[in-house]
Amino acid sequence: MNAPDKASLSSLTATDLSSWWMPFTANRQFKARPRMLARAKGMFYWTDEGREILDGAAGLWCVNAGHGREEIARAVSDQVATLDFAPSFQFGHPIGFEFASRLTRMAPEGFGKVFFTNSGSEAVDTALKIALAYHRARGEGQRTRLIGRERGYHGVGFGGMSVGGILNNRKIFSGNLLPSVDHIGHTHNLEHNAYSRGQPEWGAHLADELERLVALHGAETIAAVIVEPVAGSTGVLVPPKGYLERLRELCTRHGILLIFDEVITGFGRLGTPFAVDYFGVKPDLYTTAKGITNATVPMGGVFVRDEVHDTFMKGPEGLIELFHGYTYSGHPLACAAGIATLDIYEREGLLTRVAGLAEAWADAVHAMRGLPHVIDTRNIGLIGAVELASRPGQPGARAYDAMVAAFEAGLLVRVTGDIIALSPPLIIEPAHIDRLFTTLRGVIAKLA
Ligand SMILES: Cc1ncc(COP(=O)(O)O)c(C=O)c1O
Repeated sequence: MNAPDKASLSSLTATDLSSWWMPFTANRQFKARPRMLARAKGMFYWTDEGREILDGAAGLWCVNAGHGREEIARAVSDQVATLDFAPSFQFGHPIGFEFASRLTRMAPEGFGKVFFTNSGSEAVDTALKIALAYHRARGEGQRTRLIGRERGYHGVGFGGMSVGGILNNRKIFSGNLLPSVDHIGHTHNLEHNAYSRGQPEWGAHLADELERLVALHGAETIAAVIVEPVAGSTGVLVPPKGYLERLRELCTRHGILLIFDEVITGFGRLGTPFAVDYFGVKPDLYTTAKGITNATVPMGGVFVRDEVHDTFMKGPEGLIELFHGYTYSGHPLACAAGIATLDIYEREGLLTRVAGLAEAWADAVHAMRGLPHVIDTRNIGLIGAVELASRPGQPGARAYDAMVAAFEAGLLVRVTGDIIALSPPLIIEPAHIDRLFTTLRGVIAKLA
């Protein structure tokens, strides 16, 4: 795949911006002053005017192996020519099975099955449906309640929105969210945990809130609990030490399935293939997307414990065991991109590379402490966050200004509320880390 040349880049600036209703974007504000990314390679984007932008966010937490990987481009291009599409309802194609086996071979022991989707949102809705159907298959169909967590982000399907805990994503649709859902509280607490390096010491007991919901609703009505092992979209909430272990213990005690949403933590972000490996806590299902194809072709996948899957395989053999799937589940191009991505991850050791960078990364994140407006810095793996005090009456405005100023200074960051979240590609080198934080320091120092 060739990068666009200068001529086609400048024609992009003349593009009519009016037709695309952009997602999660202040459309009028953006279109008045666009930030256009026209080409990418390695750790960098280039704008349509040719300005170099260091990617501090791996796109949207997804380009783990860095941009413009030619091996993936070749694999996708070859696959279009060999088998562009094949149905996966009652038919199959070899590359789908090949990719699924590659994935389950790298998954923690006991996760021998993967169900393909096209996005993280679909992976979440799929996991919730598997959980509900699993209990029904075991004769516990009254377990219909799903438990999420405040400040959780699980995508934008009605299932994900319902178990999610972000007010702005929910309030407009609140009359139509799933009816049998409840939430435990989030774990973010600056009074106890500000400036934690890695996992905070305080807060394992917050998992006990599940006991309150069990007492309220009855364990026999609860199908599953879903949490992000590290919450990303609401501003990098690192689980307190012992918290995930406790959640696991309570779910096991009450026969509730535990789902980890690993859409951002999957594929090396913490220095292990999955957060399941990092924390040593095994859920019953976990969702992935993003890094599964290095974001080149949309894809997601739900990893399923053998015991959960096998529960479905007991009826008559001619029966479809799960009435669920997408036209593009296991799309051949996504599988080709995914296999090439896993090859790169394996050859370059990217799924564990962060373990060797994490200390230097943590030092760099926490060196932002003491800058104007900074009220917290936190980190885990190759994730960092700098939380800013909000301007009175203007939540989010200060971090938005930081994002715009960073872009003008040649750095892409993601902001949520007044939190600057950092999650660069896993190929990052120490010189890029220096450049990222030097730029960020300059930006924060000048913020009003
Ligand atoms: C934890 C988590 N779950 C689900 C999603 C939704 O993924 P997608 O945007 O691919 O639907 C995201 C996206 O950022 C996420 O961070």
